Amino acid sequence: GSCLESVKIAIDTGYRHIDGAFVYYNEHEVGQAIREKIAEGRIKREDIFYCGKLWNTCHPPELVRPTLEKTLKILQLDYVDLYIIELPMAFKPGDAIYPKDENGKIIYHETDLCATWEAMEACKDAGLAKSIGVSNFNRRQLEMILNKPGLKYKPVSNQVECHPYFTQPKLLEFCRQHDIVIVGYSPLGTSRDETWVNVSSPPLLKDPVLNAIGKKYNKTAAQVALRFSIQRGVVVIPKSFNPQRIRENFQIFDFSLTEKEMKEIEALNKNVRYVELLM
Ligand code: A2P
Repeated sequence: GSCLESVKIAIDTGYRHIDGAFVYYNEHEVGQAIREKIAEGRIKREDIFYCGKLWNTCHPPELVRPTLEKTLKILQLDYVDLYIIELPMAFKPGDAIYPKDENGKIIYHETDLCATWEAMEACKDAGLAKSIGVSNFNRRQLEMILNKPGLKYKPVSNQVECHPYFTQPKLLEFCRQHDIVIVGYSPLGTSRDETWVNVSSPPLLKDPVLNAIGKKYNKTAAQVALRFSIQRGVVVIPKSFNPQRIRENFQIFDFSLTEKEMKEIEALNKNVRYVELLM
């Protein structure tokens, strides 16, 4: 129930972009929160921008539409605003989210990303997704799609890790040139959960530069980190289950960083990921 409550507080606060996925196992709560807020008359469906994701076990083209339809059924919505390929690598299709062999190794699956993309295009044509995009794609993988013969729709966005310690300068420039929006995940430096986060990289929000700049504006390091990203054109999807921090993370439109401060923060880049996606 914490997801349901958090999404409702977020919508009341003013958030409209909601980043979800089947593998987060809470799409039923997100859908319920959206529907309750629509019923209350606070928002209309078209005010919300919901992003769903195609998981690795569903890359074979014939699985793409049924997988999106399953997500829509869970959400109880007619369409998603954005549907993205969550990761460029495919796992063996089936019920196991992380299919493993007897030695505990992930079982991959050979699929053609371009064929997966064509099935994504068909979802857009069918009106099930308003836009389609990708996530965790590098330049080479993006080029594979962009150079696909007969490409109907370009990916509108690429969701990747992006924050002051991992600023993605080269990918950002490449995506800018191709009109692909970068959506930055872990914009606050993650929850530092050791089961999936590289915690040898220091905590972002303890950074002295972010804190010093925050002091000047009476803002927190988190607000400075988010402001930095949006000011360089990177969409942010901060996560919080705490009402006070949900509101805090939205109070970033009443100040702006100077060019010098933007450069200072850019210089914090360590080129080290928190989310290594070792699979
Ligand atoms: P919580 O849910 O308790 O607020 P990211 O968005 O980079 O994945 O980071 C998410 C983590 O950052 C969560 O652990 C979240 O914890 C925490 N967090 C979210 N907003 C703030 C904030 N304003 N200040 C400090 N920590 C925050």
